[in-house]
Amino acid sequence: MGSGPVLALVGATGAVGSMMIDIMDGRESFPWGEVRLVASPRSAGRALTVRGQEIMVRALAPEVFDGVDVAMFDVPDEVSARWAPIAAAHGAVAVDNSGAFRMDDAVPLVVPEVNPHQMTERPRGIIANPNCTTLSMMAAIGALHHEFGLRELVVASYQAASGAGQSGIDRLYAEAAAVGGKQVGLRAGDVREALEAAGLSQSDSPFPAPLAFNVVPWAGSLKEDGWASEELKVRNESRKILGIPDLKVSATCVRVPVITTHSLAVHATFAEPVTVAAAREIFQGHPSVLLVDDPANGVFPTPADTVGADPTVVGRIRQALDFPNTLDFFVCGDNLRKGAALNTYEIAEALAPEFTG
Ligand SMILES: NC(=O)c1ccc[n+]([C@@H]2O[C@H](COP(=O)([O-])OP(=O)(O)OC[C@H]3O[C@@H](n4cnc5c(N)ncnc54)[C@H](OP(=O)(O)O)[C@@H]3O)[C@@H](O)[C@H]2O)c1
Repeated sequence: MGSGPVLALVGATGAVGSMMIDIMDGRESFPWGEVRLVASPRSAGRALTVRGQEIMVRALAPEVFDGVDVAMFDVPDEVSARWAPIAAAHGAVAVDNSGAFRMDDAVPLVVPEVNPHQMTERPRGIIANPNCTTLSMMAAIGALHHEFGLRELVVASYQAASGAGQSGIDRLYAEAAAVGGKQVGLRAGDVREALEAAGLSQSDSPFPAPLAFNVVPWAGSLKEDGWASEELKVRNESRKILGIPDLKVSATCVRVPVITTHSLAVHATFAEPVTVAAAREIFQGHPSVLLVDDPANGVFPTPADTVGADPTVVGRIRQALDFPNTLDFFVCGDNLRKGAALNTYEIAEALAPEFTG
């Protein structure tokens, strides 16, 4: 590709990895001299095109990191846990999208719009990318926190199937095809029956219940006292990114039959008095937030209108009626773009000048 630092994309064949290639293709300036694509041995030898150039996918092995400056990891937690330190030992900065290092005190958790200064403090040579649910609201929350001082955050998420990776996307399409055109949802259990009749066993699904024609109040694995892992991630990661260790957070994470773009209903309480007008002004001047808020004319954010967009889309901003210093609003963020690939790529891009001779 030319002179410049070397970038590796580990997990190039997955849902986030594919989006990463799309983001690289769309970038106006491209600081990298070489891009290496890496995945499991299943994908080795497959050719993918990046910025018009065919690149052969390599199987993950220590030598793929020889000479690499920045390595982006879009792989399952256990693969990152093992291989990001190997990349760092080869001299690369690993930017990891998995959950393996997010709460490690020696690993910064970075959203470039909110805490870019933390990128330089990386004693393990690893920088973590937040989970997609937290990220989908963080540009908007961070901007308000900067002005009014966030104290409490209560959120309900409406999460897309692609948050569970390529298998989540495939499952929702298969379920939609199996029930499509049928009169289902009128009787308890008939969605499950339609899926079974089409050969879609629940035990093969990445979701714990049918997702087509349904909503599923669960994301992640079971943690203490009935919390789902995704709900605890929203709490812990928001505290770390915003630098508020005692921030009060309560989240309920719900999966909805949407392919891509997470939405969140946010109830945010601040130390300082806050008005709808002031929040609108902040969002209007923010490069990563798009204000879409004219309910009188049926204009508000929806996942279907947000998918593919880089900014966090915010609307339905209201002053909470019974809670002082509190705003309620709705945000939509493409979980595969800003919620994953874009944020990781923005971190990598910010690191590139360190390796430009
Ligand atoms: N989906 C989201 O909204 C989202 C958002 C934020 C963060 N994340 C995180 O990003 C990571 C990737 O998620 P995804 O949704 O893209 O998953 P995915 O669609 O399942 O893709 C997984 C990728 O990892 C590769 N991989 C799996 N096992 C491997 C191994 N042993 N060695 C080398 N490569 C291996 C796969 O390669 P093969 O194709 O060769 O199997 C594939 O490229 C996960 O940690 C996820 O939690 C996802």
